Amino acid sequence: MELDLIREDMKKLLKASRYLHSVGVEEVSHDLALIYGYNINHAKTAGILHDCAKYLSDEELLKACEMYHLPVTEIERECAFLLHAKVGAAFAKSKYGVEDEEILSAIAYHTTGRPAMTLLEKIIFTADYIEPYRKPLPRIEDIRKAAYNDLDLAVYMILENVLNYLSNNNSKIDNLTKETYEYYKKILSIQ
Ligand SMILES: [Fe+2]
Ligand SMILES: [Fe+2]
Repeated sequence: MELDLIREDMKKLLKASRYLHSVGVEEVSHDLALIYGYNINHAKTAGILHDCAKYLSDEELLKACEMYHLPVTEIERECAFLLHAKVGAAFAKSKYGVEDEEILSAIAYHTTGRPAMTLLEKIIFTADYIEPYRKPLPRIEDIRKAAYNDLDLAVYMILENVLNYLSNNNSKIDNLTKETYEYYKKILSIQ
């Protein structure tokens, strides 16, 4: 589906603040694709669609997983909002005709990340965090600076923030997020 049509649909489906966030992620994905040499159209498509299943309730997300035969882990059953990423990838394919596997996996892993992410996965993961319409986050200016210079470092800093935030709030943490953090810590040789 054409980008403008996808954008129109997102505007209809998502609440106003989530739509603005999605447009912000699309814009930042465009910039990061330009800097790091990735297909701009694919980056924008993944950016605008990354939260396309976010309007579903927990119950609806679980139902969608059954419908699309998507495996649900224990933590996903407890924190069903995590599923908007996987279900979003399934929607991208079935509702918006996205066939490109890199776009689909960038949507599927935008919440947790995963070790050894592809360039597009890192672009979407980072854009989701640094887009300009989000409310202020700790160290955001440093993370933005890193994003435009060293994408792996930005990914690491975001994961560090996310893990800090989750443990400060006594929230459940997906193992994949911890593994991703350890992976980027190691490849950046951070002690
Ligand atoms: Fe999301
Ligand atoms: Fe998002």
